[in-house]
Amino acid sequence: MYEKTVVLIKPDAVERNLIGKILSEYERNDLKISDMNLMTASKETTEAHYAEHKGKPFFERLVAYLTRSPIVVLVIEGENAISRVRALNGTTNPADSGDNTIRALYGLSLSENTVHSSDSKESAEREYAIWFE
Ligand code: CMP
Repeated sequence: MYEKTVVLIKPDAVERNLIGKILSEYERNDLKISDMNLMTASKETTEAHYAEHKGKPFFERLVAYLTRSPIVVLVIEGENAISRVRALNGTTNPADSGDNTIRALYGLSLSENTVHSSDSKESAEREYAIWFE
């Protein structure tokens, strides 16, 4: 199924000049970058994006991290883009992530894990509305 997914290249990656390396992982796997914004996320937008984690012990730290410096917000398209991008990104904790996944290659920690991508079609639509509308 042809899908769109929303990806965030997070502050730890932009700070370390990893935008190009991360974009090239998606492009060389035949995924299409169809929209892209470099921005500093507001607290309000970040809290909306991570609403499901509100109240968890790491929530405040997560919001502080995502808003501390610029991020890149992407729309990526292709056949089964949601699951393919998540496979390229790897698991949430870089320490457990498969070889050559973006998080294994570049992730620093469970908190500073370099990239985010939508986990379902519903999440992709919700996240698109938050970041692009
Ligand atoms: P992400 O895929 O963007 O979705 C939620 C984010 O919360 C996750 O990546 C991590 O950056 C962060 N996260 C999840 N679990 C923890 C945790 N236990 N401690 C700190 N940060 C976490």
